[in-house]
Amino acid sequence: MDRDCYSLSNTEVVSILGTIEELNHLKDVDTILDNTLLEARKLAGADAGSIFLKDGDGLRFSYVQNDTLFKEDETNVALYADYTVPISPGSIVGYAALTGETVVIDDAYHMAGDLPYQFNPAWDQRSGYKTISMLTMPLGSFPERVVGVLQLINAKQDNKVSRFSETSRAYMPLFANHASLAIERGVMNRELILRMMMMAELRDPHETGAHVQRVGAYSAEIYRQYALMKGEDRNTIKRNRDVIRLASMLHDVGKVGISDTILKKPAKLTDEEFGVMKWHTVYGARLFLNKNSRLDEMSYDIALNHHEKWGGGGYPGRLSDIHADSGSMNQPKSGDAIPLAARITALADVFDALSSKRSYKEPWTDEKIFSTIEADSGTHFDPEIVAVFFQIIDVIKAIREKYRG
Ligand code: C2E
Ligand code: SIN
Ligand code: SIN
Ligand code: FE
Ligand code: FE
Repeated sequence: MDRDCYSLSNTEVVSILGTIEELNHLKDVDTILDNTLLEARKLAGADAGSIFLKDGDGLRFSYVQNDTLFKEDETNVALYADYTVPISPGSIVGYAALTGETVVIDDAYHMAGDLPYQFNPAWDQRSGYKTISMLTMPLGSFPERVVGVLQLINAKQDNKVSRFSETSRAYMPLFANHASLAIERGVMNRELILRMMMMAELRDPHETGAHVQRVGAYSAEIYRQYALMKGEDRNTIKRNRDVIRLASMLHDVGKVGISDTILKKPAKLTDEEFGVMKWHTVYGARLFLNKNSRLDEMSYDIALNHHEKWGGGGYPGRLSDIHADSGSMNQPKSGDAIPLAARITALADVFDALSSKRSYKEPWTDEKIFSTIEADSGTHFDPEIVAVFFQIIDVIKAIREKYRG
């Protein structure tokens, strides 16, 4: 097919509209970035691509796909690379964000000498990839609503890298423009959740935001690996992953009902205080009792059950057994009676709590953390989930680095 004919077929137009429509129904920003990039690459025939999102004065590297380096559905460390490019004319992505222009490059290693921007070969050098053609465009409308930059890399025709077609050059910026609405919504959802959690914990906002982001990301990656192992189909995995990430970020939202004196106590809680603290699971679950959506359902499951233990002995048990007047919590759940999403979040939460400084404890060494998790496999944690966690330990560590707060 000659892609250089400067027009889109009907099916291509329908496909673009369909994609944008679909993007609007998704919730979490990472899923929206994933879909945006996938569709953009499909439409432009690009081997790879990245999305940078505006973060303060810079552009934060936020998503990457690369058919040559890694498989789309695989958990990979590259996704959590952590760097920011200044919004300045010196870099290609900075230039696109600053000027609102689309930057087309046919050969990154042989660019004209008089351009304001330069190609940065750092990524290539680290990954062994060879960038040749690039199509870089701002996301959002210039100037006041630029939310980031979409960069497509290495257009492919007949399995060879070529320049980006005239069609792509003409239409991809339109796609980017529309996609940015969905991205903005995703960013807003994520920020809304972060704000809710800051209210809930009333700790240092920075610390809390990072904790919540980490637990969400750990849970999403553990879920993906677990579901792949179980032979779950790709669409189901993508859908659930989106929901579990957000729901898992909300696991401790019920702490909003716990007093500061207990929540911020810089020492070990007394038995009585811990008895009060346990109610954060119930308070959280009550927020989602309506269960209007899949997100409500999973948020309920996680808030209520993230302190249950695989072998029993956790809390709070079944909601119907809990009586506020007596304050009693009976009959902890165990095994499969604990929803999968809560079993996953339980491990993500404890791993993060042990890795972090709390008002009542210093961070543990990795050695101690990992031996504790192994020792608690089968008692506190679902052993299958512990196994999956160690399979993707490099990704887990990359997430911890990226959202280090
Ligand atoms: P969190 O700080 O997010 O901790 C989540 C879970 O990580 C804890 O659930 C526990 O299973 C594990 N964890 C955290 N720190 C340690 C630790 O030093 N040693 C061990 N072995 N496990 C740890 P848990 O115990 O149900 O606690 C729920 C929440 O209650 C905690 O959430 C925290 O907000 C609060 N909390 C628990 N113990 C204390 C304490 O001694 N002092 C204060 N101020 N808060 C506490
Ligand atoms: C980067 O990947 O570091 C930014 C590349 C660019 O300048 O466009
Ligand atoms: C799923 O497999 O549906 C996600 C986890 C859950 O609903 O418990
Ligand atoms: Fe909790
Ligand atoms: Fe927590």
